[in-house]
Amino acid sequence: MSQSKMHSEPAVYVYEAPVRIWHWINALAITVLCVTGYFIGVPLPTMPGEANDHFLMGYIRFAHFASGYILAVGFLFRLYWVFAGNHHARQLFLPPFFTREFWKGVLHELRWYAFIEKEPHKYVGHNPLAVMAMHIVMVWGLLFMIITGFALYGEGIGMGSWQYEWFSGWVIELFGQSQDVHTWHRLCTWLVICFVIMHVYLAIREDIVSRQSMISTMISGWRMFRDDSKAKDDADHGGSIMTTFVGSLMSSFRSGRSRTKADDIR
Ligand code: HEM
Repeated sequence: MSQSKMHSEPAVYVYEAPVRIWHWINALAITVLCVTGYFIGVPLPTMPGEANDHFLMGYIRFAHFASGYILAVGFLFRLYWVFAGNHHARQLFLPPFFTREFWKGVLHELRWYAFIEKEPHKYVGHNPLAVMAMHIVMVWGLLFMIITGFALYGEGIGMGSWQYEWFSGWVIELFGQSQDVHTWHRLCTWLVICFVIMHVYLAIREDIVSRQSMISTMISGWRMFRDDSKAKDDADHGGSIMTTFVGSLMSSFRSGRSRTKADDIR
């Protein structure tokens, strides 16, 4: 009878509660924004009867704007958590783009996703390709959607509103005219949709075939592993100079605070 080989591997607390809550609220807000945004751009056929009897486009636009506010507030909070959270919370915002190791990792992941590599690398945090994709779409892409979204919103509620003063004036001038802002806001929606499709596919795929847990980690916060070998980002947390700098800055602020179990495994 064959005996299965036992191994022990400590789980690592990677995603703190604020990061996980942000992730799932973001997922919901982005889904609502994409669906309602699609119908704003390609409206449904006119409904029969009086407009105020059904108010369909009104509800669609309301859902879009409410989710837009949630997305924007969540983004600001997440920026704060780059400084307040553990080093994994910084990874997405401060990628180590200027290291050779990072780009070697990106190449390896591309080959692994394309079924060319036979063995996946092991990571405690995100793998380098995921960091790169999420940095581009979830940081700069979302910032772009928030800025252009509020510029359009400010135009709707008019001059004198803070949305108009802070966003509409300069953004519309920068793009040339309002229709160009609409077009770019809409184009970038497809970038977000393509990202979401790949993100969901790869999270499920990696949960099954990689060397570490994925989906359960974004629920519980704990990363678990399938083998005892050393992870690629074990030694230096796979961070950039900026990540290390922000990390040491924050720990000097926190130096008076008592250590917790989570600090010990950071
Ligand atoms: C991931 C984020 C977002 C996605 C995917 C998204 C998607 C879209 C799409 C596809 C449109 C239709 C564009 C057109 O053809 O005219 C639209 C319009 C609009 N969006 Fe967004 N959006 C996002 C974020 C935001 C945010 C944060 C706000 C700010 C409140 C916002 C406010 C607006 C406004 C005001 C319009 C125009 C509404 C109208 O003309 O009736 N959006 N959005």
